[in-house]
Amino acid sequence: MKKIRKAVLPVAGFGTRVLPATKSLPKEMLPVFDRPAVHWVVEEALEAGIEHFVFVTGRNKNAIEDYFDRAYELEDSLRRAGKTTQLKMLEDMLPEAGSKSFVRQQSPLGLGHAVWCARDIIGDEPFAVLLPDVLVQASPSCLAQMIEGYAEVGGNVIAVDPVPMDHVSSYGVIAHGPKSGKSMPVTGMVEKPPRDQAPSNLRITGRYILQPQIFHYLETQERGAGGEIQLTDAMLRLMKDQPFHAVEFAGRDFDCGSRLGYAEAFVGYALKDPQLGDDVRAMLERLLAKD
Ligand code: G1P
Repeated sequence: MKKIRKAVLPVAGFGTRVLPATKSLPKEMLPVFDRPAVHWVVEEALEAGIEHFVFVTGRNKNAIEDYFDRAYELEDSLRRAGKTTQLKMLEDMLPEAGSKSFVRQQSPLGLGHAVWCARDIIGDEPFAVLLPDVLVQASPSCLAQMIEGYAEVGGNVIAVDPVPMDHVSSYGVIAHGPKSGKSMPVTGMVEKPPRDQAPSNLRITGRYILQPQIFHYLETQERGAGGEIQLTDAMLRLMKDQPFHAVEFAGRDFDCGSRLGYAEAFVGYALKDPQLGDDVRAMLERLLAKD
């Protein structure tokens, strides 16, 4: 079984649901406690053994590329000021040279199209996709749990989590067989179904392990839900040839694409901070008591 070495992060979206914050800042760069949202996603993937990241970007997303590069002036000024702790932090987070690629999705045609834009860099090996709108707090990380499941079943693996039936129409939803070991076979999937047509309440979380044959289907993909080229539709077609399994991971996920989800993520990550977590809890209690 081939190791999962590469991950695709689609980061081209406008983030209209969190305007005006995203007017001049890419939504992936919004701080979630002490670092940009996308940094948490990269940490999740690194913990799972990912060696190369392919960011599918768009116009006005240069801040993401700069974030994962050296900041000479800043480092120099920290060095001169003797701020060694901060300097070390920046050095520790610097990715290995050559471990990040950036490709442009020239038109916002949908998630399936964004993933397809990474095809040449991925080549002929299985790979992961992580949607940076979704942050998952988990140990081991969500992708690491999926890779454990993948080691048992191979093929294609997607993370799922239960949502209230009222919310299913905002997501991809799976139909599935009985759970065995860490995963369950996927028997169907549908993107943004009306509540009464959803095959279950298990939504596709936004973490995928896919075989490279997905690119054949994305290449000829017709538009689906919302008039967009949907990854879910291509996976449904690939499912005729290859097994798909779903992993219901242990952990907590936040949908930062919405204002409430973003607020929850910020507080959720602040509460988990090893130094400040207890103080944040006390601060929240004080704030709530004054309401
Ligand atoms: C995408 C996927 C959907 C998945 C969701 C998770 O939808 O198409 O299947 O459930 O991410 O956040 P989007 O949020 O881009 O509409």
